[in-house]
Amino acid sequence: MLKAKDLQGDYNLILDYALVVKRFSKKCIYAFVKTYGCQQNVSDGERMCGILERMGCIITDCEENADIIIINTCAIREHAQNKIFGHIGSLKRLKKQNPNLVIAVCGCMTEQKNEIQKIKESYPFVDLVFGTHSMNLFSKMLLDVFREKKRIFVSGSKDENIYEGFPVKRASKVKAFVPVMYGCDNFCSYCIVPYVRGRERSRKAEDILDETQKLLENGYKEIVFLGQNVNSYGKKLDEDIDFAQLLRRADNFGGEYRIRFMTSHPKDATKELIDTIAESKHICHNFHLPFQSGSDRILKAMNRKYTRDSYLDIIDYAKKRIKNLSLSSDIIVGFPGETYEEFQDTLSLVKQVRFTSLFTFIYSPRSGTPAALLPDPVPKKEKTRWLMQLLKVQDEISFEIHRNMLGKRFRVLVDHDLGDKSRFLGRTDGNLGIEIVEGGNFVGRFADAEVMDVIGRTLKGKIV
Ligand code: 5AD
Ligand code: SF4
Repeated sequence: MLKAKDLQGDYNLILDYALVVKRFSKKCIYAFVKTYGCQQNVSDGERMCGILERMGCIITDCEENADIIIINTCAIREHAQNKIFGHIGSLKRLKKQNPNLVIAVCGCMTEQKNEIQKIKESYPFVDLVFGTHSMNLFSKMLLDVFREKKRIFVSGSKDENIYEGFPVKRASKVKAFVPVMYGCDNFCSYCIVPYVRGRERSRKAEDILDETQKLLENGYKEIVFLGQNVNSYGKKLDEDIDFAQLLRRADNFGGEYRIRFMTSHPKDATKELIDTIAESKHICHNFHLPFQSGSDRILKAMNRKYTRDSYLDIIDYAKKRIKNLSLSSDIIVGFPGETYEEFQDTLSLVKQVRFTSLFTFIYSPRSGTPAALLPDPVPKKEKTRWLMQLLKVQDEISFEIHRNMLGKRFRVLVDHDLGDKSRFLGRTDGNLGIEIVEGGNFVGRFADAEVMDVIGRTLKGKIV
């Protein structure tokens, strides 16, 4: 594995001020990074902010005043992409006001040929475009834009090395994202991720545990291990380690802290993993296990490699082994060819499992994936109707789970201030948010909270 410090020559992390002054006619450079999509993207965005800061820039949350704008994109659904193109289009005005402005677009969208072509042709004010495989060249590419004053497009790289040691500027001082692996080898038939993020590769356990230890020493209280399919962790490493063993090692640090992880694939979720969670001191009793569909025919067409029954078996085992388990999942409604009866299988699974929360999506065709070639006769309006049914069922379940919490006490980690220094967000081990309205400011600390009220989807509580 390569260390960023070994690559200083190539990865010039210091801005060449002569260049900068030439481009911007000023010494203080403001950079704005907007991230769309999943936590993996958030983590990439935090790394870019770290690099920009190390280069000498000031990170700003004001796009209007920025000298450098980075749009870190997501490609998972068409809706996300349309929104991002809307955002990129709006930057034309800023570039007109300030021709020295540098605009870069990166992330999952920019590993797709059609999207790159679209930016090339329709968004001429974008200076730099680079894909997920070229992230490690970020500072160098930026300097090249300053130096050469021409548009730079870098994508399609096959570089699947893992680069360690880059600076990271984290958005939170309480909760930190730590990638444990990158890419995905599963090729679910609807999903663009394996095409834009490449093959599965794991970080060395030592690097992950070192990072975790340093974060805990620096006061972080919650570590979220990230990967598209964390259960595949370690498969291609030289060392003999799997995800359950990594979790056991991460459970051994001192003090009060939490470990979460996402995402797990049901085909690889082992009893050993569930036992590890059950026996741990610090791993949250919260399991995000996307099932996508409750119909075996649809699961097969999705290339998910498990069945409804095998999914329910794992859930059953987890419920028996893990005390106060909270479950969440992802669901796709309206996969090509899905019938209303097959959708009912999804609904019945939701009723049977009783998830604490769900992430629900209407199927979105992604060009280049096998599912995009399938006939898709059910109109969007009908799929939206199914989705509404699903949301109604889940709302009732969530409300019952919330109502059951009334008057009870929960250990919460107070994450952040909700705006006016009198309300704070605390999270339970099960990842439920409680709005703390009494008892003081515990941001960054653990505390016991009592649930006082349930209003719609919001739980209100006080520190006791
Ligand atoms: N259409 C709709 N939802 C999708 N997901 C992935 N690809 C698609 C798609 N083409 C959902 C899955 C996945 C989550 C991250 O996004 O539910 O688990
Ligand atoms: Fe996409 Fe499937 Fe990989 Fe998840 S496991 S990232 S849904 S291909």
